Amino acid sequence: MPLEIVRNDITKMAVDAIVNAANESLLGGGGVDGAIHYAAGPGLLAECKTLGGCKTGKAKITGGYNLPAKYVIHTVGPIYEDGKHGEKALLESCYRESLALAKEHKCETVAFPLISSGVYGYPKDRALKVAVDVISDFLLENEMKVYIVIFDKAAYKISGKLFTDIEEYIDENYVDEHTDYSQRSVCLNMPTTSFTLERFDECKAQPLADDLDAKLKQIDESFSQMLLHKIDEKGMTDAECYKKANIDRKLFSKIRGDVNYKPSKPTAIAFAISLELSLDETEDMLKKAGFALSHSNKFDIIIEYFISKGNYNIFEINEALFAFDQSLLGA
Ligand code: APR
Repeated sequence: MPLEIVRNDITKMAVDAIVNAANESLLGGGGVDGAIHYAAGPGLLAECKTLGGCKTGKAKITGGYNLPAKYVIHTVGPIYEDGKHGEKALLESCYRESLALAKEHKCETVAFPLISSGVYGYPKDRALKVAVDVISDFLLENEMKVYIVIFDKAAYKISGKLFTDIEEYIDENYVDEHTDYSQRSVCLNMPTTSFTLERFDECKAQPLADDLDAKLKQIDESFSQMLLHKIDEKGMTDAECYKKANIDRKLFSKIRGDVNYKPSKPTAIAFAISLELSLDETEDMLKKAGFALSHSNKFDIIIEYFISKGNYNIFEINEALFAFDQSLLGA
């Protein structure tokens, strides 16, 4: 996936360039700036001294010295006051200018911290949204692997109510792998979700779909065919779909070009979220790729929770996945 959100210490990232959230002097500081200078060693400061500082919203590049990264791109984020002093535009410019510099230096992999979201006080969830929006737009036109590195959980705060709701949903649905399935059976005509025996009888009586031909046709179609017909049905363009799913253009063309292509489960789920499919449609799409939402997998249950609520906001989904220590969509 071209854009990944990871939890890590950016000084440990072995990428072509890491981005530093610096101040206008470029002479070091605390936070990620301090960590990068500490890990890079004195050579970095010596080179920074030759740059003559950097304006807010702009970016300058140096070597990486003792860091695993080849370059450090220093950018200066805005100090957040109230969101009415052009902070968003300046923050967007930090990402845009840094990506342009990375491209100029033929970087294939770049890692960003959440610029301005520490000492400079930019609310972390809004800082993340700016980062994802600017990077995603860039990636639609450019080939690069970009990481957003989240250092502390505070970056993903989740409302108490949402956390409790999801916790209850998990408790109601989570079954560990060793549950005795003799009491559970899967209804043949329903999505492959485990049902109690009572549900099994109900399903058997389930009337066949009205438009039998269309349903029979859909049963035969492959994952790739279902994806393409859903894109048309939703009135989306290919690019809107794969960008919203955070899938790169190369992978999408592979899927489009191979009627029997079998994607990974996270990729199939990412498309279901992007297309805002219902739970049944999601189960159908997953089934065509050989998967099912499993109730012995917290990640799946959280995805199921959001789809059942009709909430396809990838940020809120990632906040929840992060809060429950699960890997993130688009990651
Ligand atoms: N790896 C990744 N992210 C980190 C790390 C790290 N090692 N250390 C801190 N962060 C995160 C913080 O949690 C925060 O989310 O980086 C984000 C940016 O926080 P700051 O480093 O405080 O940067 P910023 O808010 O842009 O303030 C810049 O702080 O350090 C000084 O010299 C710097 O004056 C400048 C100001």
